[in-house]
Amino acid sequence: MSTAKKVSVLFICLGNICRSPTADGVFRRLVEDAGLGDQIHVDSAGTGDWHVGKAPDERMQAVAMERGYDLSALKARQLQAEDLDNFDYLLVMDKQNQADVEDLVTELEQMDKIRLLLSFNPSAIKEVPDPYYGGDSGFYQVMDLVEGACKRLLVQLRKNHDL
Ligand code: 4NP
Repeated sequence: MSTAKKVSVLFICLGNICRSPTADGVFRRLVEDAGLGDQIHVDSAGTGDWHVGKAPDERMQAVAMERGYDLSALKARQLQAEDLDNFDYLLVMDKQNQADVEDLVTELEQMDKIRLLLSFNPSAIKEVPDPYYGGDSGFYQVMDLVEGACKRLLVQLRKNHDL
């Protein structure tokens, strides 16, 4: 096993109970299936603190479970200033998340780590819409967008880091 530092990816949304835990669960699975679990570290956080300590939203968990992802062990946490130093990739779901994370930036190097998750997708949709106050279709849309982007993210990381 390599002793090199893991490449680290942090998915960020507002509450850390819908979009970013989904990306966390989907990407973690892709990484494990690729046998890269000891080389890529995956985590998620929310810019807000309302749901800290809670498991993902039940509607999101149900949609994730339909696709074979068990999100029940995840617990919401709030984004911390240190995360901007500790992670290599800070992947946000929408432009408001991006602005909120940018507000915490103290060094240019941190700024370069922040990207919209969907920037890895060729599609014209560049933000993962917040599903919290909408109907079931919003949760399926989150899953579709996140699955597509996470597959491409892994291809990109393998290329960038020779994995
Ligand atoms: P998330 O969704 O950012 O994808 O976790 C939300 C969850 C909770 C709230 C907003 C968005 N909220 O307002 O409590």
